[in-house]
Amino acid sequence: MKVIGICGSPRVGNTEYYINIVLGELKKKGFEVELINLRDKNIAQCEGCYKCIENKKCVVADDFQVVFKKMLKTDGLIVGSPVYNGSITPRLKALLDRSGFSSRWMKNELKTSEGKYDWGQMPFSRKVFAPITVARKTGQTFAFAQLALWAAVNDFIMTGSNYWTVGTAGTSGSVNANEDIEGISIMNHLAENIDFIVNKLKA
Ligand SMILES: Cc1cc2nc3c(=O)[nH]c(=O)nc-3n(C[C@H](O)[C@H](O)[C@H](O)COP(=O)(O)O)c2cc1C
Repeated sequence: MKVIGICGSPRVGNTEYYINIVLGELKKKGFEVELINLRDKNIAQCEGCYKCIENKKCVVADDFQVVFKKMLKTDGLIVGSPVYNGSITPRLKALLDRSGFSSRWMKNELKTSEGKYDWGQMPFSRKVFAPITVARKTGQTFAFAQLALWAAVNDFIMTGSNYWTVGTAGTSGSVNANEDIEGISIMNHLAENIDFIVNKLKA
């Protein structure tokens, strides 16, 4: 059983800290885990070329390709983002736009104006998803909703915790997630839920 964490922060910071808590707990439970930091990746925004429809894959050659392959193979996906002006970060948005849109066409054909879509099983169907967002003061829930909406339209099964899986950072961009005792406990419980759901789905 594998779980990947994708961190949308451009720096070593709080988001990575929270994701690592969840991955660390899952590792203790026997999961294979991997952290992918988008700060190391060159992922351009979706160009809207629509070539993925006929090519059955995104044709833009950059680091998207290697990350996307890993997303297709994992059982669980944790996606974390810092809140930037109330939203997820641009590079993470680029990854989600391209992976969500291009994967849809891997198993579906474009219909004419007369056609009716019956999407069926999709590449991310029934993979387990968990969002994490982190802000200094506010905006976590809007960014959280962006991640949740992406998961919901791509046929993931989303995991909650005993509170929203959001973190609070200190002033002036402080890297101090270790002080967010409640946040850490929420992330630990998230790991328990991911373990529970992935095991049920694999049974
Ligand atoms: C460009 C930018 C925009 C930000 N916008 C917000 C915001 O809308 N609300 C907020 O509370 N904090 C905001 N912050 C603070 C970050 O969300 C906070 O420092 C968080 O810890 C960053 O996550 P990281 O440590 O994983 O990079 C912003 C920071 C930056 C650099």
